[in-house]
Amino acid sequence: MRRLEERVAVVTGAAHGIGRGIAERLAAEGAAVAVADIDGEAGERVAQGLAAQGARAVAVACDVTSREDVERAVGSVVDRFGGLDVLVNNAGGGRSLPEFEDLDTEDWHRQGDLTLLGAVHCVRAALPHLIASRHGGRVVTVGSINALAPFGSVPYSAYKAGLISLTQNLAARYADRGVRFNLVAPGTVGTRVWEDKPGRLEAIGRTVPLGRVGRPGDIAAAVAFLASDDAEWITGVTLPVDGGALLNAGRLFTAASGHDT
Ligand SMILES: NC(=O)c1ccc[n+]([C@@H]2O[C@H](COP(=O)([O-])OP(=O)(O)OC[C@H]3O[C@@H](n4cnc5c(N)ncnc54)[C@H](O)[C@@H]3O)[C@@H](O)[C@H]2O)c1
Repeated sequence: MRRLEERVAVVTGAAHGIGRGIAERLAAEGAAVAVADIDGEAGERVAQGLAAQGARAVAVACDVTSREDVERAVGSVVDRFGGLDVLVNNAGGGRSLPEFEDLDTEDWHRQGDLTLLGAVHCVRAALPHLIASRHGGRVVTVGSINALAPFGSVPYSAYKAGLISLTQNLAARYADRGVRFNLVAPGTVGTRVWEDKPGRLEAIGRTVPLGRVGRPGDIAAAVAFLASDDAEWITGVTLPVDGGALLNAGRLFTAASGHDT
């Protein structure tokens, strides 16, 4: 499917992992893709790989926690491709933080700057271009199932939950200007963030109803759908893509209660 012909997309955090998978999928669907990442060298390699496949692609080094950086990056993408139709807020991840009782204010700020404020900066910079898009602007944010059930990491989860509210509020506010805002909430996905935890992905995979952890392509498929016209009547939603992990509380309850009829 090439549902994103003639569209320009910025994907943050696209140098690695899920973001890279999203950039590859959007490019395969015909979009011109800007690989926006704090890791400029790796971003350059991803953009070169996309270009080698025949896509229009560019790398833009940018730290989403810096409003100036983000404005400069979005400006350079618009200069290069002539507009902007799709923003994917994916950059992020869990900071290495102490236990809840030992967290200080600075820890909360560091996580919030990356997870919530980073997306705000990107939307602020992209919005005039998304409103001007002749295709209709689309924002897809990568949240987490941690926002929907207590899977751990309190600050990360709380700020991911904030992204859901941000998505709903902006969806309501900008619907009449043709911009849709949706959020994909991944379950556990095998990326480098799990590399220093040997055996964990396999152990988690055994708890997932559909029998495995996710791949970047699983998340990318959902993002591409929400960014495409196939989702033209969908805005403000949270779409879990988790192999059914959110069903586990119900499965445990059913097993304990015998309420399976
Ligand atoms: N891997 C999982 O199990 C999982 C589960 C749920 C949600 N997520 C979410 O998916 C997204 C991607 O995670 P991943 O697992 O691919 O991680 P990753 O570390 O492989 O990729 C994150 C990317 O973001 C970039 N980045 C980090 N800080 C940045 C900043 N300040 N500015 C710009 N770019 C920055 C990194 O350089 C990297 O390319 C994150 O938002 C994460 O919270 C991941």
